[in-house]
Amino acid sequence: IISQLIDDPDVKIKLKIQSLIYPALQTLDMDLPSYRDNALLPPLTKSLTVRFWSEYFTTDRSLEKAMLFNQHTPVESAQLFKFVNWSSLLPEIFKKGHLYKSPTHGTSELFKKYPGFLDVRAAPLLADDNKLHSLPVTYVITCQYDVLRDDGIMYVTRLQKAGVRVTHQHFEDGFHGAITYHGFKIGDRIKNHYLSWLNENL
Ligand SMILES: *[C@@H]1O[C@H](CO)[C@@H](O)[C@H](O)[C@H]1NC(C)=O
Repeated sequence: IISQLIDDPDVKIKLKIQSLIYPALQTLDMDLPSYRDNALLPPLTKSLTVRFWSEYFTTDRSLEKAMLFNQHTPVESAQLFKFVNWSSLLPEIFKKGHLYKSPTHGTSELFKKYPGFLDVRAAPLLADDNKLHSLPVTYVITCQYDVLRDDGIMYVTRLQKAGVRVTHQHFEDGFHGAITYHGFKIGDRIKNHYLSWLNENL
């Protein structure tokens, strides 16, 4: 988010790189293939993710409930769905038998109370294409067993289309948070990849 907002002539310091480690990037569609496939998978289940997301904006549980059933988006948000359209932004291998359904919109009541949940400052994937092209060299880690997998992959697609130099490291046997748990080889592998990328690019 900072790298998107820093596009300000008064800010003299330019970012050289940005690294996104299994990032959470969007609040619009909580029914992506990765949410469907990994909904019950620890450590980050769908219900926990939705709870964290909704608590960025409010402690009112009605937002959480609406997000869980993907009924939180008002009709005013219809034009944002192209930014999270997994039917066009995910490579075929990640769509694997899932059918894309056009969004159904809920009432505008929640959005009027908590407009932050559709604010690009909370959800970088909702940025316009013209906000993306000046972003720095980018490294993105995604893990197969992670509800947030498709957020990261769709951002990779959008950054590449915008002409940003992106290295995408996808871990077929990875899960959300793998780096922070001790004793998993996968955590060490992710760290080693990341450190060698930093050595070459920083
Ligand atoms: C999503 O993409 C598909 C195919 O690429 C298209 O048919 C559909 O209209 C798009 N939906 C939205 C909401 O952008």
